[in-house]
Amino acid sequence: MTSGSLIAADLVIAVLAAAGWLGGGATAAARRRPLALGLATFALVATLARPITIVALARAGWWFVAEKVLIAAPLSLAAVVVAGPRLLRAPGDIRSVAVPLLFAGYAESSALLVTVLHGYPASAGAGLLAVAGVAAATAVTWRVLGPRPSGTVSRTVLAVGVAALVTGTGLAVAPNPASGVPHDHDYRDTRTVGEPTRRFTLTAGTATVNVSGRDVAAWAFNGQVPGPELSATVGDVLEVTLRNRDIERGVTLHWHGYDVPNSQDGVPGITQAAVLPGQEFVYRFRADQVGTYWYHTHSVSDVGVRMGLYGVLVVRPAPATGVDVAVPVHTLAGLPLPAPITEPVEAGVPVRLRLINTDSTTHRYALAGTPFRVAAIDGFNLRGPTSLVDTAVLIPAGGRYDLVFTAPATPVALFVDGRTVYSTGPVSTATGEWPALDPLSYGTSSPVPFTRFDKRFTLVLDRGLDLRGLLPRYAHTVNGAADPDIPPQVVRLDDAVKFTIVNRSLAVHPWHLHGHHVLVLSRDGRPASGSPLWLDSFDVRPGEVWEVAFRADNPGVWANHCHNLPHADAGMMTHLMYE
Ligand code: C2O
Ligand code: CU
Repeated sequence: MTSGSLIAADLVIAVLAAAGWLGGGATAAARRRPLALGLATFALVATLARPITIVALARAGWWFVAEKVLIAAPLSLAAVVVAGPRLLRAPGDIRSVAVPLLFAGYAESSALLVTVLHGYPASAGAGLLAVAGVAAATAVTWRVLGPRPSGTVSRTVLAVGVAALVTGTGLAVAPNPASGVPHDHDYRDTRTVGEPTRRFTLTAGTATVNVSGRDVAAWAFNGQVPGPELSATVGDVLEVTLRNRDIERGVTLHWHGYDVPNSQDGVPGITQAAVLPGQEFVYRFRADQVGTYWYHTHSVSDVGVRMGLYGVLVVRPAPATGVDVAVPVHTLAGLPLPAPITEPVEAGVPVRLRLINTDSTTHRYALAGTPFRVAAIDGFNLRGPTSLVDTAVLIPAGGRYDLVFTAPATPVALFVDGRTVYSTGPVSTATGEWPALDPLSYGTSSPVPFTRFDKRFTLVLDRGLDLRGLLPRYAHTVNGAADPDIPPQVVRLDDAVKFTIVNRSLAVHPWHLHGHHVLVLSRDGRPASGSPLWLDSFDVRPGEVWEVAFRADNPGVWANHCHNLPHADAGMMTHLMYE
């Protein structure tokens, strides 16, 4: 069982236990004896089974179980101790056990709420609030259903509840000691000098574009989705003038995966102000990284990218030879892009397909009709990539894979989630059952260039209730906090930095650090065994733990976030900052 399914199974058991106790208590109060005994026995079994999933999860890491061990386990123990013996005695008047059964239900429910609303790290505040909730609910139930409690008993329950509530609230709302990221600082200007310069102008505006025969309202660069493909030869200087015609919420250009100087990174509020209608901004940087990249707006990026403000950036070592096509996959108004391309290619011609996922979720790509190699991922060439057949690749949101092959005499087709996007002729192959490539064990390894780390950071990804804004929201969180309350990761120039990224949620989080590529060290404790993987976008699936490393060699303030852009918008955005 994967840790992801353990997280889900544990949640289901917890829900069943809570529901069983509550149902048992309610039916006992109604004197429905057999039903009450049945539900409560079921709840007792579920509660006693839960340590199995908790222990199994603990083996994947403490992050997955902290609040379950520290808060849910004691509450469950109390539930079993209070309700268990009374249930087993099964008194004639079943109504007399209603209060203990409901107490167990409250205990299980509040522990569940701690997991769902608060998560990691387990805090004393959350624990005390949970206890207060149980005490309060039990006290009320007792008044309604129970035998008259003695004055001492009710006063004790009340005192425990009030004390827990007061302390818990105090701890839960105490200000986060971490300082935020300084927004709107002076934007440094690091102009590069050098020629030749490639100049482009991108004008953002609302537009109507045609997708598979349908007119769709979009936001477009130069009236087209995707925007114009920008290409350069390594060493060129790129000078891109961004103009905003009428995008009211502002635009910027972020060079996804391109490790540009911080001032050119295009993150509004951090490296520049958003470009408003009528304004312009000129980006200038040297194209010194070869490979497949893309650009997109970073202003209200969730909406902006989805609506079409993105395009391809390719930097080649020399002018292209053979067939060299970029395939940026996107979903616009529910319709898939790009429109399928079919072009015959002469046998023997080298072909490079530059696959780009510009959506917020993973896509599955399958190349049929030829053996191929994955030459590069996220712009970085792989070492010793071997030939693959009948193998799919899963590309995370924001990620790029370059597939290369020599055109055979027979047709070849590239499928994305089962749909043909590129072909050299008709191919009918079912690719749905193909296994997916694991890049961590593909190609030839080489020694890890880090021997020690100056800084280590752990990012635990989850969901949680965020009460710090104007309106409460169910945020996507990092270490229990949501943007802008997540402490930045502070490094010094030249530090060797290690990130441990833990996903305790039930959603995939495609992680993306700006300004740097990170080397994958391990996943779920197993070291990467294939070619060194220098990535800027990688899927951290539910229950996974990734360790990645990089050299802090590009000073500035850098966004470090989930590239499922609605998640980033809902809090899953942090920053890497240089001292
Ligand atoms: Cu492709 Cu911060 O983004
Ligand atoms: Cu996410």
